[in-house]
Amino acid sequence: MPKCLVTGGAGFIGSNLTDELIKLGHKVSVIDNLSSGKKEYLNPRAKFYKIDICSPEINKIFQREKFDYVFHLAAQIDVRISVARPEFDNQMNAMGSLNVFKQCGGNKVKKIIFVSTGGALYGDCLKPAGEQTLIQPVSPYAIHKYAAERYLELCRELYGLDYTVLRLANVYGPRQYKGGECGIIGVFTSNLAAGKPSVLYGDGSKTRDFVYVSDAVGACVKAMAAGPGGVFNIGNGREISMDEIISAIKKTAGKKFIFKKEPDRPGEVRRSSLNSAKAKKILGWRARVKLNDGISRTIAWALNQQSK
Ligand SMILES: NC(=O)c1ccc[n+]([C@@H]2O[C@H](COP(=O)([O-])OP(=O)(O)OC[C@H]3O[C@@H](n4cnc5c(N)ncnc54)[C@H](O)[C@@H]3O)[C@@H](O)[C@H]2O)c1
Repeated sequence: MPKCLVTGGAGFIGSNLTDELIKLGHKVSVIDNLSSGKKEYLNPRAKFYKIDICSPEINKIFQREKFDYVFHLAAQIDVRISVARPEFDNQMNAMGSLNVFKQCGGNKVKKIIFVSTGGALYGDCLKPAGEQTLIQPVSPYAIHKYAAERYLELCRELYGLDYTVLRLANVYGPRQYKGGECGIIGVFTSNLAAGKPSVLYGDGSKTRDFVYVSDAVGACVKAMAAGPGGVFNIGNGREISMDEIISAIKKTAGKKFIFKKEPDRPGEVRRSSLNSAKAKKILGWRARVKLNDGISRTIAWALNQQSK
C-alpha cells in the first residue's frame, strides 16, 4: 500500500484528493499550515502535520514517513495577493515548493505530482493552449508557479526525481476557497446561498476553461499510476465566458441571483482554455462532469453549508 503525502491537504482540491486516495486504500499524510485550508476538511484517517512548507522542519516528516508519492498542492493561490506582495508569493510558491522538492529528492520519493496552473501560465490565448504554447505569465503567481516547474526539472537532474506537472484549468466544486485563483463559481454560489450580491469584474466576456474538482482529482490519481512523468494540461478545452457562468447559475439556482459589474483587476488573463489531448492520450484522463451538473452540485453544497 503506497504511502502518500498531500501538501495543502486541508484545502479545496487537496482535501478532495486526500479523500479519494484514502478511498482507494492508500496511506495518506497531510502537510498544511491552515492559512486558507480548514480543519474540518481534513480526512480523519489522514495523518495531519500542521506546518509551513517553507519550514526546514519538514525534513523530519519526510525522514520519518518515507513517502512513496508526494502530491504538492500547498500554495498561496490568490492572484491579487501575488500582485500586491510578489515577494511573499515567491516565498510560498517558488521557495516553499523548492523546499518540498528537495526533501522528495533526498528521501527517495518515487514520484512527485506538482499541481501547477494552466490558465495563468499561458496568458491570453485565442485557441486552447497546448503544453508547447509559449509561457506568458501575467502575474507574480504565474511566474512563481512556473519557477517551481523549472526547479522540478533541476531536481530531476540533481536527484533523479521522477515528476509529473499538472497544469490545471480553473477548478470548481465543493470546499473551494473563495479568495482563490478565479474562483468565480465558488464565490458566486456561496453568495447565492447566503443571499448576498456578487461582483462581476469586467464586462462578462472574459473566458476561462472550467474543470470540476473530481476531474482534477482524477488527473492527480492517473498521474500517480502512469509510468513516465511529464507536463500535462488538465481542462475541458472550451472557453466559457463569465456571462455563461452567470446564466448557468441562474438556470440551476432556484432562487434570485443578484450581481453588479465592476472594472477588471490587474493580473487577469482575458481569454483562456486548455488543450488536454496529451493527458487523454498518455494518462487516459478526460473530464467527465458537465458544467451544468458541476454547478448544480456546487450550489447544493453551498446551500447545505449555509443551513448548518
Ligand atoms: N483552484 C483552482 O482553480 C486552481 C487552478 C489551477 C491550479 N491550482 C493549484 O491547485 C493547488 C490547490 O489550490 P486550491 O484551489 O485547493 O487552494 P486552497 O487555498 O484551497 O488550498 C491550498 C492549501 O495550501 C495550504 N497552504 C498554503 N500555503 C501553505 C504553506 N506555506 N505551507 C503549508 N500549507 C500551505 C492552505 O492552507 C490550503 O489548505 C494550488 O497549488 C493552486 O495553485 C488551483
